[in-house]
Amino acid sequence: MKAITLLGSTGSIGTQTLDIVSHHPDQFRIVGLAAGHNVEMLAAQIRQFRPKIAAIYSEEKLPILTEAIKDLDPQPILLAGNAGVIEVARYSDAETVVTGIVGCAGLLPTIAAIEAGKDIALANKETLIAGGPVVLPLVEKHGVKLLPADSEHSAIFQCLQGVPKGGLRRILLTASGGAFRDWDVEKLSEVTVADALKHPNWSMGRKITVDSATLMNKGLEVIEAHFLFGLNYEDIEIVIHPQSIIHSLIELQDTSVLAQLGWPDMRLPLLYALSWPDRIYTNWERLDLVKAGNLTFREPDHQKYPCMQLAYSAGRAGGSMPAVLNAANEQAVALFLEEKIQFLDIPKCIEFVCDRHQNDNCANPSLDDILAADKWARQEVLTATKKLATLSPIISLR
Ligand SMILES: NC(=O)c1ccc[n+]([C@@H]2O[C@H](COP(=O)([O-])OP(=O)(O)OC[C@H]3O[C@@H](n4cnc5c(N)ncnc54)[C@H](OP(=O)(O)O)[C@@H]3O)[C@@H](O)[C@H]2O)c1
Repeated sequence: MKAITLLGSTGSIGTQTLDIVSHHPDQFRIVGLAAGHNVEMLAAQIRQFRPKIAAIYSEEKLPILTEAIKDLDPQPILLAGNAGVIEVARYSDAETVVTGIVGCAGLLPTIAAIEAGKDIALANKETLIAGGPVVLPLVEKHGVKLLPADSEHSAIFQCLQGVPKGGLRRILLTASGGAFRDWDVEKLSEVTVADALKHPNWSMGRKITVDSATLMNKGLEVIEAHFLFGLNYEDIEIVIHPQSIIHSLIELQDTSVLAQLGWPDMRLPLLYALSWPDRIYTNWERLDLVKAGNLTFREPDHQKYPCMQLAYSAGRAGGSMPAVLNAANEQAVALFLEEKIQFLDIPKCIEFVCDRHQNDNCANPSLDDILAADKWARQEVLTATKKLATLSPIISLR
């Protein structure tokens, strides 16, 4: 039975991982849980899954958590704050750590888990985008596995099983097109938070749902694919596939193309990251191609969705630039969700901050360089918001 620690247990990835564990008690058991602020849900999860250790990031909620589970015997170790989350990430009994924390907040706990020799089921893409230059050498040094749990990267990883080294020629990342794929570009200036949180195919956390609406999510996935699979950016392409049935494709040296298909359900990539290299039987709805109907494809509209090109540029610049792009995006999306900036301001803020980082881009960043770049970029977004009226629109409304 595989022992699992789950970071971000109260979120979309976290609850779906626990759904898998609860349906496969003979395969998986939870030894550690960590969450951000949702103390009630974390307490209920501790009651159900009986981890040996748990942490809540929000320190003031530790007394509530302690009180909520005081009747349990044995008691888990309970911790709080970032240090507590890191302690859970490195807890000795776990074999695999699922990283379901949202944002760059997942970076230090993921590094702690790698240094403790844990395999990583990677959902928290921001960790790799910001920290790729330090995370990958650590994965190598500690001999752990970095198993993608993002659906596109899981699809690529599944297609790659059995492909010899050097066989991969091109990656085709599919994108649903997000909440506004059928909107005219002119209407994007009227987008509300509620509009941006309506994803056509996937049910996910708020930040990634907005990233899907701007298509920054796909841009971030391009950088994630570069770090995971080692291809140059010229060989990683995006194709819009509104039905989200094909989760991504790979082209091999001889032009043969392999794809992985399924209903849009994050439990499948999560299960594969936990069970690899084995396949576990499930009773989930099986793919019916006739019911799926037409599978269609179109080119991404870079004029309507400039975030993809911003991500390609940051990825090509390398160094600390992807960390800056990621942090600027996190900050801009947070401001949009607080209704402090408009939807179309998100790419404007990111472009402003990335432009200002160009001369300071650190080619071989250390962890401290990455953390400093992340902090600087968040602050710069606040500067950008004060100048929004003077920044030229990145999306030209016809
Ligand atoms: N959802 C998906 O289908 C999906 C698909 C592919 C990739 N991903 C990636 O997976 C990650 C999680 O996404 P999500 O959609 O599950 O987000 P989400 O629903 O917003 O959940 C985020 C989780 O992180 C926790 N958290 C936030 N800050 C934390 C901190 N400092 N320490 C510990 N826990 C913290 C939250 O806790 P509280 O809620 O208790 O505050 C929550 O459990 C993201 O990187 C996303 O890009 C998600």
